[in-house]
Amino acid sequence: MSNSPATQASQVKPGYSLVNDATGEKLELPLVGGSMGPAGIDVGKVYDRFGIFTYDPGFTSTCSCKSAITYIDGDAGVLLYRGYPVDQLAEQSTFIEVAYLILNGELPTKAQLEAFEASIRRHTMINESLKSFFNGFHYDAHPMAMLTAVVGSLSAFYHDTTNNKDPRHREIFAHRMIAKVPTIAAAAYKKYFGQPFMYPQNHLDYCSNLLYMMFAVPAEPYHVHPVAAKALDVLFILHADHEQNASTSTVRLAGSTGCNPYAAIAAGIAALWGPAHGGANEAVLKMLSEIGDVKNVPAFLAKVKDKKSGVRLMGFGHRVYKNFDPRARIIREQCHKVLKHLGVDNDPQLELALKLEEIALKDEYFIERKLYPNVDFYSGIIYKALGIPVNMFTPMFAIARTVGWVAHWIEMSADPAGLKIGRPRQVYTGAPRRDYKPLTAR
Ligand code: ACO
Repeated sequence: MSNSPATQASQVKPGYSLVNDATGEKLELPLVGGSMGPAGIDVGKVYDRFGIFTYDPGFTSTCSCKSAITYIDGDAGVLLYRGYPVDQLAEQSTFIEVAYLILNGELPTKAQLEAFEASIRRHTMINESLKSFFNGFHYDAHPMAMLTAVVGSLSAFYHDTTNNKDPRHREIFAHRMIAKVPTIAAAAYKKYFGQPFMYPQNHLDYCSNLLYMMFAVPAEPYHVHPVAAKALDVLFILHADHEQNASTSTVRLAGSTGCNPYAAIAAGIAALWGPAHGGANEAVLKMLSEIGDVKNVPAFLAKVKDKKSGVRLMGFGHRVYKNFDPRARIIREQCHKVLKHLGVDNDPQLELALKLEEIALKDEYFIERKLYPNVDFYSGIIYKALGIPVNMFTPMFAIARTVGWVAHWIEMSADPAGLKIGRPRQVYTGAPRRDYKPLTAR
């Protein structure tokens, strides 16, 4: 593990304070230590004592909560779910087992895993009236728009289990959410193609069922390719959680008001859609199509380095990773395997991506800024090989990340200290107080 810039939790020592230089008044700032990684300086009393706020747009140094779910060491390129390295889980576990781990904190026994899996399978159908919501969308609506809206609409269906203080209610919500999101995403896909929605087949595993609901049609038999299902399972493990990223923080912030949990997840899906976040997988493929050929890479990178162009190398850079994103490393290896198995190993876009990566990693601009490929640089190439269209890439991410969102919502709701509404402060830069002037006086 790297020694990140701040104090490591194991070495937490008091000794931070804030001094008002004008009055000499001193406020001791306690440290909030965790089990690994930097501690946090508790600034909660700063406003009370000094009448001043702390300022950190983009939360680059600010912890919004304590969490025991996921640990990232961005300098070392480490990602742990409940302490387990993501590469071990991607190699040896399954998405459903990882979902159990993330939700419950421990790997399941055989009986626990079977019970969990059975519960998820049992909840895959959606209310028939919910399906009619899709009729309200134009045929070319983006699947993320439909996913956001229809997941939000789940809040209109389950009034029986919305007490966020009741552990059983929280559990039922978690299982419903994880089980139904693939069904809704697949329906959004079908709507786009004008094909009939397919009911889930609960004898299939989670990812096979999703592929079935997306690609099967009632008129013909459909057999899920086991390599495709396995590849999706690995991608979902890699995307399952990523601590306080923008969408998870959105779920927590919305959830902190005590709102309906399905509505909180819909807020997370909306946040995920942006190209700076989960929308990057779609943006990477669009970028590769625009570049078109390896010979155009130098001109494209020149544009990226020219700040005035506003063009970024999509799939590169990360707020937390200043090293290889460990997920990108795994996906890169998977890419070759999956493409070979599916018989599409001479994909020109993979060749282009590899060349782009190779040139960028040697370029001073990217080296200086510690910009490395992130998880989304390669995920789209696998999705494409699985026959998933570009506008479904971010819904795929949303299905996997639902596990993380739900786990964070549960962790926050179960906090014995109680729910504290998230309410940031601001530095006001608008007009000072002034008096209203009637129209005739303006
Ligand atoms: N291409 C070119 N330059 C970049 C890139 C990029 N992809 N990312 C960062 N930079 C540059 C910035 O211009 C800035 O340069 P400067 O110091 O000369 O001004 C420097 O690197 C730091 O960048 P910030 O934007 O300050 O970094 P931040 O942590 O705020 O942004 C982000 C992180 C949003 C992921 C950014 O790297 C980015 O836009 N990447 C492309 C989009 C992307 O791939 N997003 C997916 C993220 S992973 C996920 O959500 C699953």
